[in-house]
Amino acid sequence: MAKPVASEQDAPHVPVLLDEVLAALAPLDGARIVDGTFGAGGYSRALLNAGAMVIGIDRDPNVKPFADRLAAEFPSRFSFVHGAFAELDQLATGPIDGVVLDIGVSSMQLDEANRGFSFMREGPLDMRMAAGQGDSAADLINGLDETELANLLFAYGEERKSRRIAHSIVAARADKPIATTTELARLIEKAIGRKPGDAHPATRSFQALRIAVNDEFGQLVEGLFASERLLTEGGRLAVVTFHSLEDRIVKRFFDPEKGAPTQSRHLPEIVRDVLRWSDVRKAVKPSAEETIRNPRARSAILRSGLRSAAPARSTDFAGLGVPRLRGAA
Ligand SMILES: C[S@@+](CC[C@H](N)C(=O)[O-])C[C@H]1O[C@@H](n2cnc3c(N)ncnc32)[C@H](O)[C@@H]1O
Repeated sequence: MAKPVASEQDAPHVPVLLDEVLAALAPLDGARIVDGTFGAGGYSRALLNAGAMVIGIDRDPNVKPFADRLAAEFPSRFSFVHGAFAELDQLATGPIDGVVLDIGVSSMQLDEANRGFSFMREGPLDMRMAAGQGDSAADLINGLDETELANLLFAYGEERKSRRIAHSIVAARADKPIATTTELARLIEKAIGRKPGDAHPATRSFQALRIAVNDEFGQLVEGLFASERLLTEGGRLAVVTFHSLEDRIVKRFFDPEKGAPTQSRHLPEIVRDVLRWSDVRKAVKPSAEETIRNPRARSAILRSGLRSAAPARSTDFAGLGVPRLRGAA
């Protein structure tokens, strides 16, 4: 596996919505912030430069050179913990004034062919962020039955041609297991065709596999509730997501009353839950200038809120719109 270069000039991941994230977490001077998705440390560095104390967390052991560098530069204000943000309330100890989550893969992960995240780079079908832990994408592609595969592609990738793709995968693997990213991408292209101007036909399937391999929806929900438990009253949570399924989860988490039934005078009074979050801000998207400078920022959405004094909820997946593995097309 290629070793990431830990220097600022060639930092391999450009932080997305950086100024907006800093504004959402302000005031920063002297604040204790958890960066739950450390990556190349772009947010952490900016938070440290603004005077915060930062605890960085990442499940990918390959980020260590970036963390080591920040620890050397800010020995009394930066520390790093290897782990999953689902457990951030156990990995970091309070009082904590801010948590930031930048959900998804880093450019280092996408660009490194050996990690198997990109259908444009020949590599093993791996996709595990926590390198070597749990099932790889190849395990799912070669191990799930046709219905399970179709359900996964439909629920996690919103792939409308999931059945056709699953059928082709199962037919192809009868000869020999599907081993590489490009082999799978070609197979999907052959199964559902490609229209000029459209995204690559494997885009949605790769997204679905990555989400399943890394339990990304489960991690997101657990991480949101862990942040609710960890933050002090008045603490801020900022979450950047990159597709609508994740954004829906964050939106409903901050504002569970939205979408709840409205009061009718003919029915018993609805008792409203106490609100754990105030100052829930409108979704923030990157400027045109940022998306030109960094096309990977294109689909980013930032949501943030301020922790109230109400006791934290226990983790509850209900009502958040988390996609479930059923209903294949
Ligand atoms: C989009 S990158 C973050 C980039 C970072 N904000 C920066 O400026 O460099 C996402 C990072 O979060 C990590 N990650 C994703 N899911 C995680 C999880 N559940 N727990 C801990 N880290 C996770 C990935 O390994 C990746 O390094």
